[in-house]
Amino acid sequence: MTAKAYNVAVVGATGAVGNQMIQVLEERSFPVRDIRLLASARSLGKELTFKGKSIPVEELKEDSFTGVDVALFSAGSGVSKKFAPLAVAAGCVVIDNSSAFRMEAHVPLVVPEVNGDAIRGGPGIIANPNCSTIQMVVALKPIHDAAGIRRIVVTTFQAVSGTGKRAVEELRHQVGEVLQGKPVTREVYPHQIAFNCLPHIGAFLDNGYTEEEMKMVHETRKIFSDPHMRVCATTVRVPVYYGHSESLNVETREPLSVEKARELLSRAQGVRVVDDPFQCQYPMPLDAEGKDETLVGRLREDLSVENGLAMWVVADNIRKGAASNAVQIAEIMIERNLL
Ligand code: A2P
Repeated sequence: MTAKAYNVAVVGATGAVGNQMIQVLEERSFPVRDIRLLASARSLGKELTFKGKSIPVEELKEDSFTGVDVALFSAGSGVSKKFAPLAVAAGCVVIDNSSAFRMEAHVPLVVPEVNGDAIRGGPGIIANPNCSTIQMVVALKPIHDAAGIRRIVVTTFQAVSGTGKRAVEELRHQVGEVLQGKPVTREVYPHQIAFNCLPHIGAFLDNGYTEEEMKMVHETRKIFSDPHMRVCATTVRVPVYYGHSESLNVETREPLSVEKARELLSRAQGVRVVDDPFQCQYPMPLDAEGKDETLVGRLREDLSVENGLAMWVVADNIRKGAASNAVQIAEIMIERNLL
């Protein structure tokens, strides 16, 4: 008997995350019968490789989902809003990396290690959380289970790949311009990103926070099913290509020693503790790049509050923060006979 295989579509296949989705499907030997690579008309004529075979990129159209079992979307909110419902109507499971549906009550928002139970079967949309939220909740899940998190203060240091391929090019280009003493040109960010930090990710809102910061607040509450969890986020774009870093200060309801937290984290799914500061061992984006684990280190007591822990959390934003999380959701659906 041959194992079941699936018709898969990747929407936004030519983008930073879409490309990685194709690679992760291949690496993890996802049971693909047929793969359809979809992007805009601009990409017509391009070919991408899957399992050594060249596959032409097709233009995303209303009828692109006929016969597709599972569609991984990463082409921005506008594309998801228009095409995900069409895919569902065609009988498809959509795993959507955009923010379009994340906060809709009927749409599960899933990080498999944290709330895999929220996954449901049948045609419909499952949302992949924001990259910064994913790595934070993976690291906080064991702490929340053990001691109940009351409040989180988080500052992020986010790689340019989170903005997309053009932003990776912009940083590369600007580094060259600066080193050659040329004037810096920019198209993607409102300021030079090379050798700089921008405390500005997503649009600013009336409350003074950015969209990215408020995504971290709302998504964390939804994933932990705790609408009252207090979260304060500051999100910063830094000149790193791949890998987001986060400084976290966490206040728990019950006391939890640093030693106990370290032990829990060392057994937690999807986490690797890298925490030997005297040997200069701590998580860094260059070490997280290309991996699916969330690295946790610099674990210490937060001396400014009762029941406080401080830590540093790093993950590859394109992999665990996006592509790998989406593929893991599909794998769980197969395991549970939901696909
Ligand atoms: P394309 O390369 O044809 O523009 P990134 O996040 O790296 O910028 O990538 C965005 C992805 O979303 C790309 O694959 C891009 O395709 C795709 N995309 C953007 N707009 C559309 C659209 N209107 N229809 C289909 N795909 C789109």
